[in-house]
Amino acid sequence: MNSEASATPSSDRVSELIDTHVHINFDQFDEDIDAVAAAWRSAGVVQLVHSCCHPREFSRIMALAEKFPELSVAVGMHPLEAAEWTEESATEIRELANSPKVVAIGETGLDFYHDVNQIPQQQAAFESQLLLASELNLAVIVHCRDAASQTAEILRNFQRQSSQPVRGVMHCWGGTPEETKWFLDLGFYISFSGIVTFKNAHQVQASAKMVPSDRLLVETDCPFLAPVPRRGKRNEPAYVRYVADCVAELRSVPKATLAAQTTKNARECFWPFQI
Ligand code: NI
Repeated sequence: MNSEASATPSSDRVSELIDTHVHINFDQFDEDIDAVAAAWRSAGVVQLVHSCCHPREFSRIMALAEKFPELSVAVGMHPLEAAEWTEESATEIRELANSPKVVAIGETGLDFYHDVNQIPQQQAAFESQLLLASELNLAVIVHCRDAASQTAEILRNFQRQSSQPVRGVMHCWGGTPEETKWFLDLGFYISFSGIVTFKNAHQVQASAKMVPSDRLLVETDCPFLAPVPRRGKRNEPAYVRYVADCVAELRSVPKATLAAQTTKNARECFWPFQI
């Protein structure tokens, strides 16, 4: 383990967690990134996966990964950037994915909540990135907003036709139990964010109760969607603890058990060759 972890007095040790989805390259962190990192370390966050919304973000994300060794990265293009998708994008992502820091392709997927004008482009970008993840044997990070049936359909076709099925995660999951089952049947992990802590998130909470323990992940998606009791504030990786504790409570399991299970699952999803 790193020196920071071993420097923590044993009485203060908390169970380890992995935040499987962060955007700490955003300018909300420009002023205090060192304090944010100190906070996640003392909260027991031992690894993080940095999502990527556009290849133009990649060099900044890699600089952060140099600075914070526990940060692994994804490379890809978000569905809301899909208007910019070209064949060259796939080539560029494939090259950037050569870095040993890269553990996933994404985030990609479909977002019909914010944008229904680019549906064919979103689908094309998603299908290309699935192919990349499969070819490169990397996880895929799937963003899905108001598009569960279309997302499941694309994944179903892909898993059926591909010589190498893709593994990955439904990130910041907001679906119903029925929708959740579609993605579980496709072999996907389901990652819960601060949404699960919101009082009225009944469907998401029902989903968090029914996911098998070996498919559960937790994330912040920071700087967005801070969990209760930080709702409305800037979100940060240390707060993944609130998400994990809420999911533990919903499932009536000890917090340490939930932390250990989600940490194991994250390693199997993103670092399967190091286990
Ligand atoms: Ni994201």
